[in-house]
Amino acid sequence: MMGKRGLFVLLLAGFLLFLTQCSSGEKRVGIFLYNGEDPFVRGLNEEMLSQFNRTIYRPEVFDALNSQVVQNEQIEHILENPVDLAIINPVDRLGAHAIIRKFRDENIPVIFFNRQPLERDLDLWDSCFYVGATAEQAGQMQARMIMHLFGDDPDRLNGYDRNGDGVIQGIIIRGEQSHQDSEIRTREVRDTLSRNGFSFELLTSVIANWNRKEAYDKMDEVLNLHGDILEVIFSNNDEMALGAIERLIEKGFFRDSNGNGRIDRQDGDWIPVVGIDGLPEAVRAIGAGTLYGTVINDSTSQAGAIVDLTGAILSGREPEDSPDDLEKGKYIWTDYYPLVSE
Ligand code: GAL
Repeated sequence: MMGKRGLFVLLLAGFLLFLTQCSSGEKRVGIFLYNGEDPFVRGLNEEMLSQFNRTIYRPEVFDALNSQVVQNEQIEHILENPVDLAIINPVDRLGAHAIIRKFRDENIPVIFFNRQPLERDLDLWDSCFYVGATAEQAGQMQARMIMHLFGDDPDRLNGYDRNGDGVIQGIIIRGEQSHQDSEIRTREVRDTLSRNGFSFELLTSVIANWNRKEAYDKMDEVLNLHGDILEVIFSNNDEMALGAIERLIEKGFFRDSNGNGRIDRQDGDWIPVVGIDGLPEAVRAIGAGTLYGTVINDSTSQAGAIVDLTGAILSGREPEDSPDDLEKGKYIWTDYYPLVSE
């Protein structure tokens, strides 16, 4: 018997299916999102849907609403009426182990994206792949933006070193714990600064789970404790950077203090905040002078790589025939790009 939750999941799936009903393609592709409310993932999904040729493919989208239990039920449901290929953004990357075994039993190829399964899990089966961006690059690019802003010379920081102590005081707003992107981006920011001789004092780091509201809420205490000496905010993504900026504005930062008619780096209460993803709203914030920079997480290329790989697999060609480089027969990586205000 189907429980209430099962019914809910099916209704939800049905709701999402209407999005894809204009497809006439024969090849059914299941797309499983960890959370359709996440703006980056939502944008990536829209990219995939726009790139799939609907005369060949019929994409069906399932939103797990950030619950691995819901995603497991959606997968069980799809295995009763199997798709030709599954594209999965796992809620819990450790959950990939059980997911791979299920699809392997049914011989349905799986492409994971955005949340990277452990290598030993991907190695369980030949027909599972991962498409994502190299998190190291994103952290390194954020650090480089800030080194440049502070004058590129670790021994002679410019006026952005507000207290003139030769040390950059900052905070890091982190995404979900145990997500490869939060861990690696955070590590790389710190390592890059220190490798280049810059002294960085991490005043505190807060976890805001990729979420704007959580970052906004957590900034209150951070600013009460460190607002006076804060010189930079590194955020693991744009959403959290935008949440932090909202709170900073309420606390009196980002005013046109020199009265030149706009908010910019010359204003005394301006502070550099850097994000990652390149969301449209973040690009607008760069234009408005609040966000200093972002690192573009190239969802167009990631969607393209997923669609190409799906094409290679479902047309019976070798995955290696996909136009993108397949590392170790499993991984396709896309590059990040920095974007800073002029
Ligand atoms: C990251 C992205 C975050 C969030 C997360 C979800 O790559 O930068 O904004 O979407 O993926 O897994």
